[in-house]
Amino acid sequence: MIHFKPTMWLRSLTLALISWQILNAQSGRRLFEAQCALCHGQTGGGGKGPSLLKPKLNKAPDQAALEKLIADGIEPEMPGAWTLSPKELTQVAEYVRSLGSIPPESVPGDATAGKEIYRKSACASCHIIDGTGSGFGPELTNIGIRRNSAHLRQSILKPDDILPDGFMLIEAGQTKGIRLAEDLFNIQLMDASGRLHSFSKASTTINRTRNKSPMPAYTKFPATDLDNLIAYLASLKGSAK
Ligand code: HEC
Ligand code: HEC
Repeated sequence: MIHFKPTMWLRSLTLALISWQILNAQSGRRLFEAQCALCHGQTGGGGKGPSLLKPKLNKAPDQAALEKLIADGIEPEMPGAWTLSPKELTQVAEYVRSLGSIPPESVPGDATAGKEIYRKSACASCHIIDGTGSGFGPELTNIGIRRNSAHLRQSILKPDDILPDGFMLIEAGQTKGIRLAEDLFNIQLMDASGRLHSFSKASTTINRTRNKSPMPAYTKFPATDLDNLIAYLASLKGSAK
């Protein structure tokens, strides 16, 4: 009979989990969520690493440069993705590029009036636009580049329906927040003020709520107000910086 030391056992379990993830990562999105989300956010909005939701990445102007950047990493903070095959590199790079852009469209409504509605509704208690605001909602500075008006409408009326895959509200001990990442042993979350926390799963009681957004559904806006608010969000194309 073979005896494994506990550390060896844990290591092979971790390796098994990693290969399981890779085998199952059929698409760029899954690869991204498994390997990049920890730093770049579940939907690419940023965290420890920068937001990737922009039409042009500073360090990766095209597909080839992006694949190389992902494979090599960036010293010292971003590790190279050495476990990815060339095909997977292509998939994850294509996914990252798809995050950055949506086709242009014309949106009815008055963006200036919409800005005032945004202000009166205290959206900035959960969202940041151009450095103003706070909290754990996604930054909206360039939401007009990333999302079409149908998505914006739905985000306001039915936030539960547009939750990204894997979105989860977490209660870890006394701390509440949204799940950023997790592996076998630890879970990372962001609290309502935007602070990051990490917990050991062995020593913390963890409650999970799925399919529920912390954002209230704003169903009471008159139709013109809603159009104006959407026009304002659609006009947000990133800061001048
Ligand atoms: C451990 C954290 C970490 C992980 C994991 C990680 N990154 Fe990064 N990434 C960073 C940091 C930090 C930077 C900024 C580094 C710098 O510019 O010096 C960065 C930069 C980038 C950039 C350049 C952004 C720009 O505007 O040019 C791209 C693209 C990128 N990462 C993609 C990915 C992808 C795809 C994955 C997964 C395969 C990934 N990263 C995994 C931390 C990480
Ligand atoms: C209590 C916090 C909170 C408030 C208040 C809030 N949001 Fe959100 N919002 C969130 C969170 C968290 C998400 C991400 C989860 C989701 O999609 O529901 C989100 C998602 C969104 C999205 C989708 C972003 C994307 O990348 O797809 C938009 C657009 C948005 N909010 C706009 C607004 C507007 C406009 C208001 C004010 C009328 C508002 N939010 C008020 C927390 C909030």
